[in-house]
Amino acid sequence: EKITISVIKADVGGWPGHSRVHPALIERAKEVLSEAQKEGTIIDFYVTYAGDDLQLIMTHKKGVDSSEIHGLAWEAFKKATEVAKELGLYGAGQDLLKDAFSGNVRGLGPSVAEMEITLRKSEPIVTFHLDKTEPGAFNLPIFRMFADPFNTAGLVIDPKMHMGFRFEIWDIYDHKKVIMSSPEEMYDILALIGAKGRYVIKRVYPKKGHPIPEDEPVAVVSTEKLYEVAGEYVGKDDPVAIVRAQSGLPALGEVLEPFAFPHLVSGWMRGSHNGPLMPVPLKYATPTRFDGPPRAVALGWQISPEGKLIGPVDLFDDPAFEWARQKAMEITDYMRRHGPFEPHRLPLEEMEYTTLPGVLEKLKDRFEPVE
Ligand code: 13P
Ligand code: 13P
Ligand code: MG
Ligand code: MG
Ligand code: MG
Repeated sequence: EKITISVIKADVGGWPGHSRVHPALIERAKEVLSEAQKEGTIIDFYVTYAGDDLQLIMTHKKGVDSSEIHGLAWEAFKKATEVAKELGLYGAGQDLLKDAFSGNVRGLGPSVAEMEITLRKSEPIVTFHLDKTEPGAFNLPIFRMFADPFNTAGLVIDPKMHMGFRFEIWDIYDHKKVIMSSPEEMYDILALIGAKGRYVIKRVYPKKGHPIPEDEPVAVVSTEKLYEVAGEYVGKDDPVAIVRAQSGLPALGEVLEPFAFPHLVSGWMRGSHNGPLMPVPLKYATPTRFDGPPRAVALGWQISPEGKLIGPVDLFDDPAFEWARQKAMEITDYMRRHGPFEPHRLPLEEMEYTTLPGVLEKLKDRFEPVE
């Protein structure tokens, strides 16, 4: 029998500004999920935060895209929004872009990563929760985990991994997807996912012959783009991901290793700047400097045979990631000194959804032809 793990998140108010989630919102969401657990809708849950994003982690038997589970998340976000309004928190209900729930939270504002899996004898997973960045921020680390032998020794030395993995890549502008095979198509994969604002790794699958069934994902990333729902800039998409580990998959340490390099991602300050992704323990998942820099939290879990969430372990709460944090701060200083200049500020195409169209509109009549 299969178990579904659902990570659903939304920014329903920041404290203060866009810095973090107020504990009262977490409490309110817990009450809603606790009720659902008593009624048997979900098996287990955990509520936490990453910056100003309220994070719901749930296990259940309803499969992915279940209207019951999505409806439950929506209710938790609505109730937490009420609390945010009472407290006057910043941007109360920020990511709830539609008024009515219609069977699925996709396209309504929250971000979703879900996988329905047959539990292995032991099922170690990591949930990742990012703030001040976008779904494409996961391209580099997910690629490294499942395709880069310099990151993941298992690709070379574990016979179960040696054949590689399949990547489901979405074109999030044209709403198309393609499944590509690594290592055979590695360079083509990189040609796409290096353009991380457009091509986003959605899922990773094992290949035929792997102990995990071919149609069961081993990693999944949220790909929701808020501006596509709202039609204008309303904050960043602050993605989440679920990654399974060990036994024919990257070891826990291979799943975390890519984050030892604080790579540049977009989404910092007003969603309009590039900056380093800093791996942090929960206590530091509170972006402050220039509303950042962007943060990554990694929570470790074992799923019990009944589908209980045994955890979380705050995986970046480790001195081994201290150097990456130092490096991220060095990069932060360096990038900040560019002020409003690219490549700190995002390129024009990605500024389309901010103030830039307004500036161009204002100057429309003052532009004249050059000789
Ligand atoms: P243990 O012997 O500690 O389980 O380690 C197995 C392993 O491969 C870790 O990467
Ligand atoms: P959030 O998407 O985390 O609310 O970020 C908004 C922002 O632009 C902060 O500068
Ligand atoms: Mg916010
Ligand atoms: Mg946020
Ligand atoms: Mg956001």
